[in-house]
Amino acid sequence: MVRNFGIVAALAAGACAITPKQLLQAPRRGAPVPNPSGKVALFSYSQYSFEEESSTHAWQLLDLETGEITDSGLNASEVNEAVWIPGTETGVLYINGTNEDVPGGVTLWIGDTAKPSERKLVASLEAPFSGLKVANTSSGDLRFLVNSLAYPNGTAYNEELAPTARNTGRLYSDIYVRHWDTWLTKQRYAVFAGTLLKASGYGLENHEVRNLLKDIPFNVTRPESPVQPFGGSGDYDISPDGSTYALLSKAPHLNKANFTASYIYVGAFDGSAAPEALNGPGSEAYEAGHKGASGAPTFSPDSSKLAYYQQDGEYYESDRVKLYVVDIAQGGYSTGNGSAVSASNWKGLAPDWDRSAGSIAWAPDSESFFTTAEDYARTRAFHIPLDSDADFKPKNLTSVTSISGLAVLPDSSLLIAASAVWTSADFYTLSTNGTQNVLFSAVKVDEDLAGLGPDTLEEFFYDGSLPNFDQQLHALVVKPSNFSEGEKYPLAYIVHGGPQGANANSWSTRWNFQVWADQGYVVVAPNPTGSTGFGQELTDRIAGEWGSYPYEDVVLGWEYVRDNLSSFVDTKNGIVAGASYGGYMTNWIQGHDLGREFKAIVTHDGISNTESAFSSEELWFIRHDYLGPIWAENTTYHEFNPQNHVANFSTPQFVVHNSLDYRLPESDGLSLFNILQTKGIPSRLLSFPDENHWVLNPENSLFWHTEIFNWINHWSKGTDLDDNAIGQ
Ligand SMILES: *[C@@H]1O[C@H](CO)[C@@H](O)[C@H](O)[C@H]1NC(C)=O
Ligand SMILES: *[C@@H]1O[C@H](CO)[C@@H](O)[C@H](O)[C@H]1NC(C)=O
Ligand SMILES: *[C@@H]1O[C@H](CO)[C@@H](O)[C@H](O)[C@H]1NC(C)=O
Ligand SMILES: *[C@@H]1O[C@H](CO)[C@@H](O)[C@H](O)[C@H]1NC(C)=O
Ligand SMILES: *[C@@H]1O[C@H](CO)[C@@H](O)[C@H](O)[C@H]1NC(C)=O
Ligand SMILES: *[C@@H]1O[C@H](CO)[C@@H](O)[C@H](O)[C@H]1NC(C)=O
Ligand SMILES: *[C@@H]1O[C@H](CO)[C@@H](O)[C@H](O)[C@H]1NC(C)=O
Ligand SMILES: *[C@@H]1O[C@H](CO)[C@@H](O)[C@H](O)[C@H]1NC(C)=O
Ligand SMILES: *[C@@H]1O[C@H](CO)[C@@H](O)[C@H](O)[C@H]1NC(C)=O
Ligand SMILES: *[C@@H]1O[C@H](CO)[C@@H](O)[C@H](O)[C@H]1NC(C)=O
Ligand SMILES: *[C@@H]1O[C@H](CO)[C@@H](O)[C@H](O)[C@H]1NC(C)=O
Ligand SMILES: *[C@@H]1O[C@H](CO)[C@@H](O)[C@H](O)[C@H]1NC(C)=O
Repeated sequence: MVRNFGIVAALAAGACAITPKQLLQAPRRGAPVPNPSGKVALFSYSQYSFEEESSTHAWQLLDLETGEITDSGLNASEVNEAVWIPGTETGVLYINGTNEDVPGGVTLWIGDTAKPSERKLVASLEAPFSGLKVANTSSGDLRFLVNSLAYPNGTAYNEELAPTARNTGRLYSDIYVRHWDTWLTKQRYAVFAGTLLKASGYGLENHEVRNLLKDIPFNVTRPESPVQPFGGSGDYDISPDGSTYALLSKAPHLNKANFTASYIYVGAFDGSAAPEALNGPGSEAYEAGHKGASGAPTFSPDSSKLAYYQQDGEYYESDRVKLYVVDIAQGGYSTGNGSAVSASNWKGLAPDWDRSAGSIAWAPDSESFFTTAEDYARTRAFHIPLDSDADFKPKNLTSVTSISGLAVLPDSSLLIAASAVWTSADFYTLSTNGTQNVLFSAVKVDEDLAGLGPDTLEEFFYDGSLPNFDQQLHALVVKPSNFSEGEKYPLAYIVHGGPQGANANSWSTRWNFQVWADQGYVVVAPNPTGSTGFGQELTDRIAGEWGSYPYEDVVLGWEYVRDNLSSFVDTKNGIVAGASYGGYMTNWIQGHDLGREFKAIVTHDGISNTESAFSSEELWFIRHDYLGPIWAENTTYHEFNPQNHVANFSTPQFVVHNSLDYRLPESDGLSLFNILQTKGIPSRLLSFPDENHWVLNPENSLFWHTEIFNWINHWSKGTDLDDNAIGQ
């Protein structure tokens, strides 16, 4: 084990441990997007101030040779988003969040980062459009795509201009009725297309944008793009020549609560025909058994090809994500009216590669692309040549940190944004010969992160419980910043959510391992059965097994720590914490033997009663993971219900459950707290009325951290409990 004694000495003064406040007030940066020549890149910057109780925002430029960062001159109070105009060095098209003519609308402007004061209003848009993408065509016209909520008749929805309903009733005749943190209304998201005509000084053709989803036929689920709640401009694309667009929408003939299936639709930009699904029913892809959720439609630089990804299973959200490419041409066969786009030569890429693709970025020559994938608790980059054979296994191009953004520069090198347990953002270029040029590292710049480094992170592999499985399981270990050799620290054992997810070497503002460790713990974060990034079999084998193999793996990981890390980890005063499925697992642990090994439990938005799983909206998820709907035979709702083991509950438990969590409704947190209280087990309930499955508001997050740490420090280390809780 490598240790830097210089840093340990400096930290003994208590200088460098990261506190929740420092975590939350440190700057946050988006992934840099390079300009067409690859000389500079634009990225978003924001920072919350606890003194001002507000955030500041900026659009910054990163020089891709020197790493110098300057302000772009785009006023972030007014500029919601900006995209580079192809064919220019510094030209941008941007969305200004105000519209003097239409309250609640926005405007489009052409600007120049080299001459910020020279900007031109080109279009008035009548709703709060976002998700801008642009092509600069050979005629000189700019063709763009944006998205907005739209009425059923296709007209964009502007909340400020919409009439106020006279009652608040919500009436439904099918599911789902709400999702993630939002109750459904009659409005759905749609992609709109517009053309800025060079001949008229880039005025908007016909003074309007066209809804591209309006005429897609459906009989069950109305087409919607981006797909909610997480979809954005990555759900659609415009070809660089402006001729064609592609967009993602859920399967129109399947119930959206019951299925994850979604398809890639393509259409001619100036055609009158509705777009058609290239991988929907009847397509070669569908007939070959690839029927699940799709994503990342991305045109090649020469506009002749489209790459995308798709899962096979119609209702399995964690099925392997596989890569595909098709040739795209105008003037194909159409079942409707107008000119259609044909997709041919459909091909799966690296079909036997046992990893799930995360994003797509084409190489300049249109002969290959780059993708990201989870791989051993990091997100790494991989290169996929189109002419690769079916048995091609991509090699990782990156190693230690996790990629959060990847772009390809004109010389085929990569511009990478990455994070790790010790850094919120590193920006670097990676040449085709493997040379890295680090342009920026947040820990060197941000006061709040000063002193963080890789020395606190370790990992170990251990034998898990799955029969007929020859891989070892993985776990991360994070030590306090002021770790002192010879001293022992109580264990903070953190179980991840999903359950198909991973504890990874990446930065988080919600579950930041270094922040937990710097309360004076050694964090151990295991990746048990169900985890992603270690091959599909480990992910798949949690289905119908929520409380069996994963629990046994968590026990085995804990025993490994007890027996093998005892020189610096005190398991006698440890705590266990987890959110979502990690919260379910803490509740399962509470009812089983491992629960007796902890001084305290922290459960964030976890399931406590699996038999009420149908109050969630994502029926595809529970249908898959519990082996059928609640009434079917041989499902596992009853077998793995934490509330069947209430008799064993006895460890002090802190329960968080937020009101806007519609994925796992708050009734699970309330019934858990009522059980703990009724049984006389020390417990607290924390509920945020304005947070969903996550805690995003910095003031709320500070309170979350403060109260959870107050709780674990009391039960693990005997510090006083605060009197902030509402009592009698
Ligand atoms: C390390 O940091 C913790 C938390 O900030 C503090 O309680 C402890 O005293 C520090 N230990 C040393 C040796 O500085
Ligand atoms: C940026 O826009 C805001 C809001 O319109 C305005 O108050 C501020 O003066 C602008 N800043 C600059 C530098 O122009
Ligand atoms: C589009 O690209 C051409 C070069 O191909 C460039 O001259 C033109 O200025 C670009 N359009 C805009 C609006 O910047
Ligand atoms: C945004 O639009 C407002 C008018 O609605 C205008 O005053 C302001 O200058 C614009 N800002 C930018 C950066 O385009
Ligand atoms: C679409 O419906 C909305 C809401 O009823 C209405 O305001 C709008 O005028 C309609 N658009 C068209 C083109 O009929
Ligand atoms: C919807 O259409 C599909 C064929 O595209 C058909 O199989 C299905 O039965 C239809 N569903 C309903 C509810 O009409
Ligand atoms: C959900 O899928 C199952 C299995 O195919 C089917 O039995 C059920 O009818 C579906 N429910 C809805 C609402 O589509
Ligand atoms: C094609 O257009 C004609 C005339 O507008 C219309 O009658 C017909 O139904 C359309 N066909 C389809 C398949 O949309
Ligand atoms: C690929 O990952 C391995 C660890 O699995 C690492 O040793 C190697 O350096 C990585 N390759 C590159 C090019 O970063
Ligand atoms: C790798 O490529 C970069 C950029 O093209 C170049 O500067 C560097 O000298 C090359 N390094 C080696 C070892 O070839
Ligand atoms: C401790 O580590 C050794 C060597 O890796 C391993 O054989 C043993 O199983 C570990 N103990 C536990 C309880 O996992
Ligand atoms: C449930 O399991 C029993 C025993 O294995 C089996 O006989 C039965 O067919 C199963 N039912 C269903 C619906 O799969």
